[in-house]
Amino acid sequence: MSAVLVLGGAGYIGSHMVWQLGQFGVRVVVLDDLSSGHADAVPGAELVQGSMANVALLDSLFASHRFDAVMHFASFIQVGESVVDPAKYYANNVANTLLLLDAMRRHRVRQFIFSSTAAVFGEPAYCPIDEAHPLSPINPYGRSKLMIEQVLADYARAYGLRSVSLRYFNAAGAHPDALLGERHEPETHLIPLVLQAVAGKRPHISVFGTDYPTPDGTCIRDYIHVMDLADAHWRALQYLQAGGETTVFNLGNGGGFSVKQVIDTAAQVTGLPVPVQYGTRRAGDPARLVADATQARQVLGWQPQYASLESIVAHAWRFESVTSGGRL
Ligand code: UFG
Repeated sequence: MSAVLVLGGAGYIGSHMVWQLGQFGVRVVVLDDLSSGHADAVPGAELVQGSMANVALLDSLFASHRFDAVMHFASFIQVGESVVDPAKYYANNVANTLLLLDAMRRHRVRQFIFSSTAAVFGEPAYCPIDEAHPLSPINPYGRSKLMIEQVLADYARAYGLRSVSLRYFNAAGAHPDALLGERHEPETHLIPLVLQAVAGKRPHISVFGTDYPTPDGTCIRDYIHVMDLADAHWRALQYLQAGGETTVFNLGNGGGFSVKQVIDTAAQVTGLPVPVQYGTRRAGDPARLVADATQARQVLGWQPQYASLESIVAHAWRFESVTSGGRL
């Protein structure tokens, strides 16, 4: 593996991937429009600020580098926003991705790693969720990701463009040395919101619903460490390099934690109180989402290194402390 183009490499998961690729000595070019990414998240990589909708820019990047593969993290990710403004999601997550795939075809780059999501399943028919689970997304965000998965299956057959779609469950945590972390604006994810409440940056964390059919009444999710996600991508690249066929993998720890358990773990890890406000349900939240990642373990030899909720929260807290100037 000599060179990889990483779309959205300055974002949360992308920047951890770029760091990982750097550790393995891979030459990385990041294409990111910095609409939600951060230029300082990719030290040491070549950062090109621009959009994948810019076909001329794509052509010049592919013409001036010999990329072995492309990794695509450059999507919009907010479920609620996708319901209110689906055009934004279909334009970027679908149409722009097709432009990227066209450019790959023109320049004969035929290995692709795609960031997909557990949102392709919709309301779970059973849990844990394996790859054979029915695909029935309930919002435009999930549909936009499923559409590209389907495009990729067709492109493999027709054009020999081989890909791995990785369906993340709940990405969380940060680089263990706090070099990188989660910096969404606005932040909507549970763990950073809880830690920002602990840090006094928010008045409290609102718990969205306490009447779910779960042991403590709050929703259960499968939190997976961002470094373990990066490791899965690295293994997926090796898989494609070795001639692997187009496929999809679910990525999670296979264990679920409730919102209350996340809050209790944050209190324990930080040694500080968590200001909590109990509220009503958020629309579209399934009670329980847990991955069956047996396929990724078996085919990729993937074994999450930071499976405990404590290490996920501890690393996120370290990053939160650093971004607060070490005052916590
Ligand atoms: N939650 C709260 N309060 C908050 C934020 C979240 O109680 O302020 C709860 C949610 O209701 C949910 C859990 O915490 O039960 C996790 O919520 P997140 O928003 O962190 O994550 P989601 O499970 O909603 O979403 C994640 C990804 C999406 C993806 C989805 C797939 O962030 O991109 O999983 O199901 F679509």
